[in-house]
Amino acid sequence: MKTIIEPFRIKSVEPIEMTTRHQRERYIHAAHYNLFSLESQHVLIDLLTDSGTSSMSARQWGAIMTGDESYAGSPSFFRFESAVRKLMPFKNIIPTHQGRAAEKILFSVVAGKGKYIPNNTHFDTTRANIEFTGAQAVDLVVSEGLNPASEHPFKGNMDVQRLIDFINEIGEDNIPICMLTLTNNSGGGQPVSMDNIREVKSVCEHYGIPLFIDACRFAENAYFIKIREKGFQNRDIPSIVREIFSYADGVTMSAKKDGLVNIGGWLAMNNDLWASQARTLLILTEGFPTYGGLAGRDLEAIAVGLEEIVQEDYLRYRIASTQYLGDHLFEAGVPTVRPAGGHAIYIDARAMLPHIPPMQYPGQSLAVELYLHGGIRGCEIGTVMFGRQADGTELPSRMDLVRLAIPRRVYTQSHIDYVIEAIIEVNEHKHNLQGMKITWEPPSLRHFTSHFEYCL
Ligand code: F0G
Repeated sequence: MKTIIEPFRIKSVEPIEMTTRHQRERYIHAAHYNLFSLESQHVLIDLLTDSGTSSMSARQWGAIMTGDESYAGSPSFFRFESAVRKLMPFKNIIPTHQGRAAEKILFSVVAGKGKYIPNNTHFDTTRANIEFTGAQAVDLVVSEGLNPASEHPFKGNMDVQRLIDFINEIGEDNIPICMLTLTNNSGGGQPVSMDNIREVKSVCEHYGIPLFIDACRFAENAYFIKIREKGFQNRDIPSIVREIFSYADGVTMSAKKDGLVNIGGWLAMNNDLWASQARTLLILTEGFPTYGGLAGRDLEAIAVGLEEIVQEDYLRYRIASTQYLGDHLFEAGVPTVRPAGGHAIYIDARAMLPHIPPMQYPGQSLAVELYLHGGIRGCEIGTVMFGRQADGTELPSRMDLVRLAIPRRVYTQSHIDYVIEAIIEVNEHKHNLQGMKITWEPPSLRHFTSHFEYCL
């Protein structure tokens, strides 16, 4: 059969409140044209993020009722630990309330002034947590990863030669760990190949640098390896996942993505000394090491989520549905980052709206218009997010994108058909879109709360 159907039935539904363009004009005006400031019931299709927005299965909801809420030594922790260890066999598994909490603790232990941490591309919270310790975050993705039009199958790969040159220049003693982000969210949700993971590991091993994986979307990455990399077609997903982590010394994980839950994460590693320092910090800010910022029921939901996320029928549907959105937009001439990523499609707003200069935020203008026209909420990833420099000046970011991130198991094909239709219509009247200006912004992380108006 050609059609890949959603491999689930829907037993519990959440109504979507229908709105008109006229109503949405009022809502977005009241939100100062910032999509983060909208009330979510005024959004028809919410593609702001795939993080924490998954639908849980009946089995997960069932497991929630069995959560044991003991302060210490809860059986829910041991079920969580064993489910994580089946896929990521590290000695120490430390639960946290989400990914950035794991990052904060890891970098408090290993980073600090004078240190450098390379990655394919650091996600913003990872970079911010590294920089907060005084260390520097360095992105060394392959050049194809910076070219939106390149159809390279593994655009998330690390540029291994640049990594070697970087280590030689900085000195391995100043690099406490090296990282790889799977999939590369900030680079378009693009995967990293097994070959690249192996090569990065062998370079790290040569210099005695531990390799940590930001594992948020590990299952999507494993599926891309299965379908795109030679030699993996007949391997099952759990075995590909285990091979990936066999090359790593630790992970940071946000279970809000490929943990299929609404909250949770963990830090895992083989180094006992670092782990014991991490657990001490964990107690200060998250909680006792057998719950770490989560309820017992959350740990149960993750344990089941990890079984469901590596099911091939699920991943086939997941990757096909993202690709369906990407390919239809591409065929209609909407410029997007190619090929389709695992969790999101990124529209190239700068290419789509050449009449709006980067300093008038084409990504913001497009994101606002997608909301006005179709009630769709995406996220600007461009000059609004990255343009403000540390010295207070403002520069255009490398690209102006709008990310449409697809929550897991939430929307059906007709929702996605609606999104495609709306974007194609916006593309037809794109010449009418206007640039925007910021009328108020906070001292940092301005994309979350800035106020905007149209340039006249
Ligand atoms: N690493 C990556 C690659 C991420 O995409 C995220 C979150 C994190 C770490 C942090 O995890 O949110 O649980 O603290 N990404 C979300 C997004 C917010 O929308 O892409 P967290």
